[in-house]
Amino acid sequence: MILHKFKNQAELDRVAADLMMSVVRGRPNAVLGMATGGSPVGLYQEMVKSYKQGLISFKEVRTFNLDEYVGLAVTHPESYRSFMQRNLFDHIDIDLKNTHVPNGNAADIEAECRRYDEALYQQGPVDMQLLGIGHNGHIGFNEPDTTLSRFTHKVTLKEDTREANKRFFNSLDEVPTHAVTMGMGSILHAKSILLVVKGQEKAEILDRTLNGPITTQVPATLLQTHPRVIVLTDCDVNYKLS
Ligand code: F6R
Repeated sequence: MILHKFKNQAELDRVAADLMMSVVRGRPNAVLGMATGGSPVGLYQEMVKSYKQGLISFKEVRTFNLDEYVGLAVTHPESYRSFMQRNLFDHIDIDLKNTHVPNGNAADIEAECRRYDEALYQQGPVDMQLLGIGHNGHIGFNEPDTTLSRFTHKVTLKEDTREANKRFFNSLDEVPTHAVTMGMGSILHAKSILLVVKGQEKAEILDRTLNGPITTQVPATLLQTHPRVIVLTDCDVNYKLS
């Protein structure tokens, strides 16, 4: 993993956006893996800014989002489809039919997971997968557990994850209890991974991600096995080489 530390988040967002856009400049029909939550908002704003300045086109880009809540109407402002529309897709020239977010309202969630994987594996591998990290070390919604899943699957969200995401809802009761997430195999299948970690309160989990033993109890530690991971952070962390 390559670690880049930043003094301020604006600079981090700019570099993160430049990395994503350099993939698109090299391959106009690139497949980008997208994340939601607080971490990517600034970098999406930077991508929109570059598009509006005429510096980049996303016309042929294809995207696959990591995850989606189960049982939240797609029109709900906190569905991840709504998030992507509001923060990115509505402001750039991407063709919406090339944007993929799992359908958390599918009548048959199992079938939806298989459909998502088929599309992902047909169009992939993902050129660059953007990730944030949960306080408990989850990536996507792959929560700490004794085993992890390879493919897209339905998960029960941990209470600390629901607590962390409560800030986007009126109350904890409104935070969905389940989600659909890409599996660890699909995430690690990406050609490159861009992990964005903001806020000193994530320093401890980032330290474990970089330096801790590889364990399914901290899913992000599996990133240590991937050959091309770039970590951008404003946390005060370091590699420990022994
Ligand atoms: C979101 C996702 C999650 C978040 C993580 C961090 O699509 O997959 O893993 O990246 O929960 O969320 P924030 O950035 O809100 O701290």
